[in-house]
Amino acid sequence: MTTPDITLNSGTTIPQLGLGVWQASGDETEHAVRYALDEAGYRHIDTAAAYGNEDGVGRAVAASAVPREDIFLTTKLWNADHGYEGALQAFDTSLGKLGTDYVDLYLVHWPLQDRDRLLRTWDALEAIAESGRAKAIGVCNFEPHHLQLLVDRGGLLPAVDQVELHPHLPQTEIRAFAQQHGIAVESWSPLGGTSNSGWGPNSKPNTLLTDPIITRIADRHSRSAAQVLIRWHLRSGLIVIPKSVHDHRIAQNIDVFDFELDDLDVSEIDTLANGTRLGMHPDEMNIGAPR
Ligand code: A2P
Repeated sequence: MTTPDITLNSGTTIPQLGLGVWQASGDETEHAVRYALDEAGYRHIDTAAAYGNEDGVGRAVAASAVPREDIFLTTKLWNADHGYEGALQAFDTSLGKLGTDYVDLYLVHWPLQDRDRLLRTWDALEAIAESGRAKAIGVCNFEPHHLQLLVDRGGLLPAVDQVELHPHLPQTEIRAFAQQHGIAVESWSPLGGTSNSGWGPNSKPNTLLTDPIITRIADRHSRSAAQVLIRWHLRSGLIVIPKSVHDHRIAQNIDVFDFELDDLDVSEIDTLANGTRLGMHPDEMNIGAPR
């Protein structure tokens, strides 16, 4: 069964489910992406300059039997490269590592705290989009007040806002704002994050995959906890990019298009919202910002 597409405000489409590769090494990424494309049926890969594995993605895409034009490829601009010239150069570097002459989606990884520089960064992304070398541009970790800056600026709006989003942190305000402005929302750490590493001052171990509410629903459907969580994102109209470097999990995470959650399942999952955040709050993040 194929992954449904979502149409972005750029006019292009994105497969609603993709493979995330945060915290995977270059070699792990190469294997995971190759398996995802050639064996498991994924057509959407999400990486970032900061993950240090764009080269692994590039090797897998080059070796894959799936043509480049059938793969939706996302990468992200790292904080140190904010600013007009910095963003243009970083984009070229990413294309080189990915071994491609365009990406499907180029995202600003964090808004950071310098509003003027953020607007210059967005000018660069707009120029990249106009050149056709990114089919769509967007942002990550933008709160409504960051999105409002781009609304006020005029010009291209982000196609996507990729934010930390899972049942503990359903991000209702961001979703409402994004919907009002035609911006698709994409969930990072959709399964509740890595098993125990986490990051940032608020980092927490993954408690969603073992949560009794989730595992009870999983048992009811004879599915895994991860599959239940992925269906929750899909049903909410979110784009979802679960990360795994293990073949059986990569396959399991896309094997979700032959069952549905019912209203009771969703109302139980919705009781898990408690504001737990795995990463930093976007208003606090300024790591690596240019001086
Ligand atoms: P691994 O790569 O070792 O499979 P996220 O919420 O950021 O997508 O994090 C997913 C985390 O859950 C990763 O640590 C990943 O580890 C693990 N994971 C991914 N898919 C599954 C699955 N189907 N079952 C259990 N754990 C999973």
